[in-house]
Amino acid sequence: MIVILNFGSQFAHLIARRVRDLGVKAEILPFDTNIETIKAINPSGIIFSGGPDSVLRKGSPRPNKDVYTLGVPVLGICYGHQVMAEMLGGEVIRGAHREFGKENLEIQSKSGLFLKLQPNQTVWFSHGDQVQKLPSGFRRSAATTSCKNAAFTDDRRRFYGIQFHPEVTHTKNGNAILKNFLFSICKAKKDWEIKSITEDIISDIKHRVGKEHVVVGISGGVDSLVAATLIHRAIGNHLHAVFVDTGLLRKNEVVEVATYLKKHGFKKLHVIDAQKQFLRALKGITDPEEKRKTIGHLFIKVFESAIKKELRQHSIKYFAQGTIYPDRIESASTSGTASKIKSHHNLTLPEKLGFEILEPIKDLYKDEVRRVGLELNLLRELLWRHPFPGPGLAVRIVGEVTKERVEILREADAIYIEELRKAEEYGKIWQAFAALFPIKVVGVMGDARTYEYVVSLRAVDSVDGMSADWHKIPNDLLEKISSAIVNKVDGVNRVVYDITQKPPATIEYE
Ligand code: XMP
Repeated sequence: MIVILNFGSQFAHLIARRVRDLGVKAEILPFDTNIETIKAINPSGIIFSGGPDSVLRKGSPRPNKDVYTLGVPVLGICYGHQVMAEMLGGEVIRGAHREFGKENLEIQSKSGLFLKLQPNQTVWFSHGDQVQKLPSGFRRSAATTSCKNAAFTDDRRRFYGIQFHPEVTHTKNGNAILKNFLFSICKAKKDWEIKSITEDIISDIKHRVGKEHVVVGISGGVDSLVAATLIHRAIGNHLHAVFVDTGLLRKNEVVEVATYLKKHGFKKLHVIDAQKQFLRALKGITDPEEKRKTIGHLFIKVFESAIKKELRQHSIKYFAQGTIYPDRIESASTSGTASKIKSHHNLTLPEKLGFEILEPIKDLYKDEVRRVGLELNLLRELLWRHPFPGPGLAVRIVGEVTKERVEILREADAIYIEELRKAEEYGKIWQAFAALFPIKVVGVMGDARTYEYVVSLRAVDSVDGMSADWHKIPNDLLEKISSAIVNKVDGVNRVVYDITQKPPATIEYE
């Protein structure tokens, strides 16, 4: 395994994903993880991530100094490279030119990280400081015009520093550099592969759960589907799945997912029809936060009463969740608490009912979850669905949620998504959906005046939903979608396309 010590980099997850994609397990740990924890993992190599801080600032993050005595290769990236230089006796200065963006790297030593690479490489920089003087035992291995020690090496101790980021795609041969570190320097084994991960998860669940019973909530999304399927493979009908139909899911979603699970042998699947309850609770609510809270609370109430019903018949020990790796690993950023933009709902139920938590996919990234799903023979179409928010269509209906508005939006959204799929555009988009504005506008259909709702189409490109760009759907496809919605959905006479980035907008409307 490779340990990545995170100095607050926005790219720490990206480094881990690159390493895993090359077939080696990577774990992100906080920069100040104690040395015993690292020793216990016995990593083949350690990577120091970048980070927003400056080593010149007093109190900026440092790893435990004993990481340099483990006899394990270390690769420092950007801030990690500067920290290594500074801690081992070199000198870091504020650069005369701040290097941000693409640079030409001149490789001066083709061994180590740069094995088999051409002498000139396009690489990506994003830090103001640079290493002025190398620690003793180190030699320079690459430079740029404004950064003389863009890369350095201590071959004997197998320590490597690079000022640029190999994990971002702007560094053209970043993967080759990481590959050299993993395989020719760390001699890491290539054993992180989906088939064996899937088998291991199933056998771990069997081992841990034994003859006990497990309850899991199905949300209609990818993570809970894959988590539930893994558990079902391990313990069969000792798994109790609860799927709350809030009436706020996408068209046919509940029926499709429920039918699919039953076909896959889920005998104890309980679909709870709570549509009317949700509509009643949402009546008259227009404030987005109040809407989210109302849905969150009611969801927990309905879910809890379904579980209590199961508990009357079986004793259940475990509560399973589809938590994935990025949900768990917070970046070790020192930026303090971010302001709350939107409240997400969070189940406190497991503690209340004394369940133990089972999180079968907690070590996996989303793309790995999807590949595990394929390994389990789940339908590709279900696995590659776009993200969907917990409060569902309610946050895509601006203002009050009514039965009529939900029905209109559900139809418009289904048409939009179907057209994107037909045009093979769906797979190119990170998230696409329709939203409904609670205003009526004038139109003309046939010879008659209409006075109906506006539907907004949103499609965004993103990596993690934290920031997003609007996706450029071809104009002729937009036109086709607009005509299809206006012609087929009663109650809509106008379609607009949202061309706002996040930030300043958010992806959802509420
Ligand atoms: P925003 O609207 O905050 O959305 O830009 C970012 C991403 O998060 C999804 N989202 C949610 N997901 N529960 C969820 O599980 C929620 O309450 C929630 N709100 C937003 C949104 O769909 C987008 O992918």
